[in-house]
Amino acid sequence: MASQHDTLSELLSRHEAGYALQQPFYTSPEIFEADMEAIFYREWLFAFPACTLEKSGSFQRLRVGAYDVIVLRDGQGNIRAFHNSCRHRGSVVCNVAQGRVAKLTCPYHQWTYDLDGRLIWARDMGENFDTSKHGLKTVHCRVVSGLVYICLAKVAPDFDEFANMVTPYLGVHDLSNAKVAFQSTIIENGNWKLVWENNRECYHCAGNHPDLCRTYPEDPSITGVSPDGTFPEKVERHFNRLEAAGAPSRFRIDANGQYRVARMPLLDGAESYTVSGKIAVQKRLGQVPFLDAGTLLMFHYPTTWNHFLTDHSITFRVTPLSPTETEVQTTWLVNKDAVEGVDYDLKNLTTVWEHTNDEDRRVVEDNQQGINSPVYEPGPYSAKHEDGVMQFVDWYLARMRSAHLPATLAAE
Ligand code: FES
Ligand SMILES: [Fe+2]
Repeated sequence: MASQHDTLSELLSRHEAGYALQQPFYTSPEIFEADMEAIFYREWLFAFPACTLEKSGSFQRLRVGAYDVIVLRDGQGNIRAFHNSCRHRGSVVCNVAQGRVAKLTCPYHQWTYDLDGRLIWARDMGENFDTSKHGLKTVHCRVVSGLVYICLAKVAPDFDEFANMVTPYLGVHDLSNAKVAFQSTIIENGNWKLVWENNRECYHCAGNHPDLCRTYPEDPSITGVSPDGTFPEKVERHFNRLEAAGAPSRFRIDANGQYRVARMPLLDGAESYTVSGKIAVQKRLGQVPFLDAGTLLMFHYPTTWNHFLTDHSITFRVTPLSPTETEVQTTWLVNKDAVEGVDYDLKNLTTVWEHTNDEDRRVVEDNQQGINSPVYEPGPYSAKHEDGVMQFVDWYLARMRSAHLPATLAAE
């Protein structure tokens, strides 16, 4: 009988290139744990836009698998992250999802931590008690161009290469002057990899996204990863026009295929993701030089894809909850000085992606239900339309193959 470790190894080695993954990758609790261990507990994870934490003491609580994290803005304005586990007897220190505090006080026995994580008050612990040894445990935290990332690993992988690649592209979007106009959090009853696979192709768009298709091209040369590095002349002209005007746009992907940036054109004449195709926010966020500059697409596996537009920006965060449940949080960012009802209408701003998210939720849930059937067998991807899906699956498989998981987590 195959050992538990052999079972995952066997599944990984049995994968047929160009075909969907086998059923256990979408259904097995053990493979879900292996995904968390090999990927979510090791890689940099997008948390949210930095402007979510408006003031000193603003905090958000994040849960990623077994981990509970507090991300806050400290007294100096820096963003920090801590494990939400008191150094006394381990209670959560923050027991609400978000808020603003002057200090972090544990609800159990009121041990009190400064916003930099130092323990500053603990009642009656005796004169030999050393507060400096009982600060909150830190979580790696970086901010790139107004986007907060955390990493749960003891030793975080390199972040600078990603930051260096995307910083010039994000500069013109000026996210440091953004505010959150709206946020939606939905649960999709599907494995997190199905959420990603669906995101990485637009083969499904024409049949499922009537609103999005008014402005977003389903053309795979725009939505995909360009395996041979070439683009149609029209897209090359778009890159050249934008780059000449100071907005970095050319397609770039890192050597491991974990993150990609490219500023892609929308359909002719379209400016933004609205039903009319016109910009949604008159007081624009950023200094993109043309209204028809398209959308800066950025993904970073395993947690985020983004659309940075001429007038506003949209971030997406993917958090696995169970083998068949995934949270997707969407945040619409606008210029901090834009006034709702004057510079933008909230419904006009959010309709296209509210609808698109709901449509994607439905196709992901249908996909999961069909995969649950005993007769499911992986089918072939369309080489023309689904190269982005294959690219994601290849990245995932490579991460799992190189993860050296403990045998107890490597089971089917
Ligand atoms: S567990 Fe936090 S003060 Fe006791
Ligand atoms: Fe979609």
